[in-house]
Amino acid sequence: MSLTQVKLTLREKLDILPAVASIIVAAVYALLTGLWRTERQAKSLLLHFGYAIMRKSTQRLSPSQMQFILPGSTTIYNRFVKKVGYKPESVELSHGATGHWIGDPNATNVVIWYHGGGFGLPSNRGYINFYAQLVRHLEAAGKSVAVFSLTYTLAPNATYPTQLKQAVSCARYILAQPNRDPATVFLGGDSAGGNLVCGVLSHAAHPHPQIEPLPIDGKLGGAVMIAPWTLLDTEFPDQEIYSGGDLITPQVAAPWATAFLGRAPRDNYTDLFHAPTEWFETFPVQTVLITGGGNEIMLPIILEFSKKFKDGFGNVEMFVGHRECHVAPVYNSMLHDNTETEQGKKIKSWLVELAH
Ligand SMILES: *[C@@H]1O[C@H](CO)[C@@H](O)[C@H](O)[C@H]1NC(C)=O
Ligand SMILES: *[C@@H]1O[C@H](CO)[C@@H](O)[C@H](O)[C@H]1NC(C)=O
Ligand SMILES: *[C@@H]1O[C@H](CO)[C@@H](O)[C@H](O)[C@H]1NC(C)=O
Repeated sequence: MSLTQVKLTLREKLDILPAVASIIVAAVYALLTGLWRTERQAKSLLLHFGYAIMRKSTQRLSPSQMQFILPGSTTIYNRFVKKVGYKPESVELSHGATGHWIGDPNATNVVIWYHGGGFGLPSNRGYINFYAQLVRHLEAAGKSVAVFSLTYTLAPNATYPTQLKQAVSCARYILAQPNRDPATVFLGGDSAGGNLVCGVLSHAAHPHPQIEPLPIDGKLGGAVMIAPWTLLDTEFPDQEIYSGGDLITPQVAAPWATAFLGRAPRDNYTDLFHAPTEWFETFPVQTVLITGGGNEIMLPIILEFSKKFKDGFGNVEMFVGHRECHVAPVYNSMLHDNTETEQGKKIKSWLVELAH
């Protein structure tokens, strides 16, 4: 099993105590001030409270400290997949990655999902709920779909291009299933997972020098990205960014991007945002959906990215969920708010239309 054992220095361990204290202070403050909320903040007090805890935790703790505290992605899968009514079934993939099924591996359509979390946070209960909702919704609409979710090695333990190699091996495994038509394969990912969707499409069209090529006989059925992280700048533009309606802050960009990149320079695979128009033209996929939240700090970048993608590739739809945060379909559910999000609803109807 690919259980990532994070090792912390004594100083990093001791630092967790004051960090937890500061998170508690932020949580109490949010609870007290959250009774009067504006449109730029979360719809419910529960979410407002949860986002404040997320913002403070991700800002105050390093990726390694977060991994030390949180259960790993495989543990999360095993713990929650039965709760949502599916049989656990995991597959060892190459390069130390693991794939997890939600639904029947012989389903007509497969959605490969790359989870987000800045390459430094493991999966969480919200993801398993989201996958199960997708499978159930499609089933109710008469379509047979399973989700295959990748557990990749987190940064800084592994750095670029390891995670992309693992994402490619995951796609390779699904495409090699007996009688699998690429048109029944969908790529999905949120935030850093959206970066991997971009990386896999880029690699399929322009093989990465360090990764075995991924020939696709035809085109994939579709690619969906929730708030893809495609610009690994370590600084946000100077203007003030309001993050009170979101669950991340601009302060996480530098440590997360640095942990992922290690010493590697940024390129078209890590920063699709900067790739030239012609780079997108040969992506082997039929259609692309990009979603973002109306209240998320990355929205301007996501909107600009979707324009670039459309200029180069053509068939791109951009959807914004009103008053929603970063990756709301997953994180709201993690925070025990299972109200359907606009982004989640959009992704379901997009898949119902495209699935075979
Ligand atoms: C990195 O992960 C591997 C297993 O995937 C583990 O054996 C190793 O101890 C980890 N290294 C660090 C520095 O955490
Ligand atoms: C999937 O199909 C294969 C071959 O057709 C079969 O051997 C296997 O039992 C099936 N698996 C499930 C879970 O139905
Ligand atoms: C990105 O793609 C363009 C067009 O193929 C190429 O000229 C450029 O060198 C690439 N950039 C990097 C950093 O690889």
